[in-house]
Parts: sequence; structure tokens; C-alpha cells
Amino acid sequence: MYTEKVMDHFQNPRNVGEIEDASGVGTVGNAKCGDIMRIYLDIDENQVIQDVKFKTFGCGAAVATSSMATELVKGKNIQDAMQITNKAVMEALDGLPPVKVHCSLLAEEAIHAALWDYAEKHGIKIEGLEKPKSDIHEEEEAEEY
Ligand code: FES
Repeated sequence: MYTEKVMDHFQNPRNVGEIEDASGVGTVGNAKCGDIMRIYLDIDENQVIQDVKFKTFGCGAAVATSSMATELVKGKNIQDAMQITNKAVMEALDGLPPVKVHCSLLAEEAIHAALWDYAEKHGIKIEGLEKPKSDIHEEEEAEEY
């Protein structure tokens, strides 16, 4: 059911953990399953992502996609990181079963939420970045599941 790459990233996830004094932190919940993802970004003065870590209460597909997503954004500048969609992550993993596609959105949304946090703290605007809808802090007003 899962590709070798998915199994590899699930069993040996890259970049698990947290970053103290991160430049940006994003926490999002998946409306479909209630799972949670947090991403920490360390961004330098040239707006390059030097380090990235994640933590999740998510399923195996969420772990694998986040692991791959963190690998893909590391070393990129924030504009290029915006191009890393869940589709790009799934392609890098050689695909996910259709019922697990929603899991791959957690990583993308958490990265966007962390970039939003970074942009707010630094008073900048990142082209194409919108306020994260599923940011966990917003959840009070939210969403019927
Ligand atoms: Fe919740 Fe996959 S089932 S993230």
C-alpha cells in the first residue's frame, strides 16, 4: 500500500524535534482526522531556511510527508519554500494512497503557518502566503467537523 520511500521516511523520519527560539512556528490541525502538526523554522538574515524541525500527533503518512517536506524546504529561501506543495511532497515520496492525501496537507499548512509567524514577527510580506486557515490558535471560532 505504501511506497518504499514512504516507509523509509515513516520509520526513519528526518528533522523530528523542536528549535528553541525558532524564527517561526506553525501549528495546524487536520479537520478530517483531528491530527496535529507543528513545524519550527530557523531562518537567517538572508531569508534562507537554515533548519527545520517538526513534531506531530499524526498518522504514518503525516510523519512521512512531514519528514520529506522538511527535507525539501531546508536550505531554500522563503520564496522557494512556498513552492513546496503537498503535491511536490507526494511526488518526492513516489505517491500516497488516495485516502491518505489529506495527511500530506498537514505539513504544507504547518510550513505556511510557520512562515506566516515569521513574516508577522519581522513585519514582512511573503508573496502568495495567506493567513493559515487551520492554525490551531484559531480553532475556538472554528469549524464543524
Ligand atoms: Fe490524520 Fe493522516 S489520518 S494525518
